[in-house]
Amino acid sequence: MNPILTVVLPAYNERNNIDFLLQNLAKADTNHQIKRVIYVDDDSPDGSSEYIKSLANPPFEVLCIHRIGRQGLSSAVVEGVMLADTDYVAVMDADGQHEPDDLMGMLNLALVDKADFIVGSRFKAQDSLDNHTGMRHFISKKGNALCNFILKRELTDPLTGFFLFKRSIFLNAVRDMKPTGFKILLEFLYRIRNNNIEVVEYPIQFRTRHEGESKLDSKVLLEFIDQILGFITKGLFPEKLFGFLLVGASGLVVHLGLLYALLFIFGVSFNMAQSLATLSSMISNFSLNNVLTFRRNRLAGWKWLKGLIYFIAVCSIGATANVGAAAYLNGAGESWWLSGLLGVLVGTIFNFVLSRFFIWKP
Ligand code: GDD
Ligand code: MN
Repeated sequence: MNPILTVVLPAYNERNNIDFLLQNLAKADTNHQIKRVIYVDDDSPDGSSEYIKSLANPPFEVLCIHRIGRQGLSSAVVEGVMLADTDYVAVMDADGQHEPDDLMGMLNLALVDKADFIVGSRFKAQDSLDNHTGMRHFISKKGNALCNFILKRELTDPLTGFFLFKRSIFLNAVRDMKPTGFKILLEFLYRIRNNNIEVVEYPIQFRTRHEGESKLDSKVLLEFIDQILGFITKGLFPEKLFGFLLVGASGLVVHLGLLYALLFIFGVSFNMAQSLATLSSMISNFSLNNVLTFRRNRLAGWKWLKGLIYFIAVCSIGATANVGAAAYLNGAGESWWLSGLLGVLVGTIFNFVLSRFFIWKP
């Protein structure tokens, strides 16, 4: 049998899973159909890249893309697939959660049934274990329904990280993809939603991780919402704006709560209370944006403090722009509420753009 499959493994801090996974891949690949493994590592502090390069006798050719200054699961997958040269390419977790035996089953389906796009589903098999609990489980369920609606398909697991496809399909779609989030399969399927490509599901096992911990926590929900909003508005809704607005709304709660407490519990004068509440909500907005909205570029140490000072400056200028725009509109005869609302909008957009491009530089 010809080696016709490339396996792309996006990885961050998965060094302790490398041997385990390569061995199991080799064991499962009884017909020697895997040509090459492409490992895409984002400069993991655990030294994964150098470790891969030092492997003495890997069972097949293992190439490692050691990315510096670039991050993210989706872009890692795209770069890995672009290095492949075989007819078929598969993407799977590098942590041992996806079974090499399932990979060979998917390849077999592709070759025998001529299926060009196979998605490994965690929820199709009766006996497969849904390792997600609580919030993750909820996100999975609700997210699936929304995804299917957008993708115009009926998939049991459109958010899976395990899939196999004909490379030519990817090549036709890749230029339209926006590989910023972590849901690369969603992006891929979205770009081919109007093509006549059949997507077949293959029931897979989803094991617990061999070693280490998940890189995707409940905060990726924000990225997911960003991606969906992008699809729905055809890219008009800016990425990260949703999180920024959410944090802004929380700031309002902080502001009013503190204002109330200072006035009625601590008996502070109104001007003093309003100033303290303003400053506090700016600090709280900054901290939350740092860990939620812009967490991929989050600031720490001195940079955190510098960022906070910039953020306060930006918000102050934003407030001036807000008042200026509102005053202009009101003077031109607009109603008080429309002027006020558009003023807030101008201020918010100003804050958002400066925050995104100058404070948390992409
Ligand atoms: N290069 C790179 N860069 N790899 C990354 C990054 C990144 O920023 N983030 C995560 N990875 C790698 C991980 O090292 C792992 O090999 C794989 O991508 C998936 O990440 P996990 O941390 O293992 O995610 P999970 O197992 O919790 O989530 C699973 O379910 C998701 C859907 O809910 C995975 O199968 C995901 O792929 C899937 O989207
Ligand atoms: Mn995983």
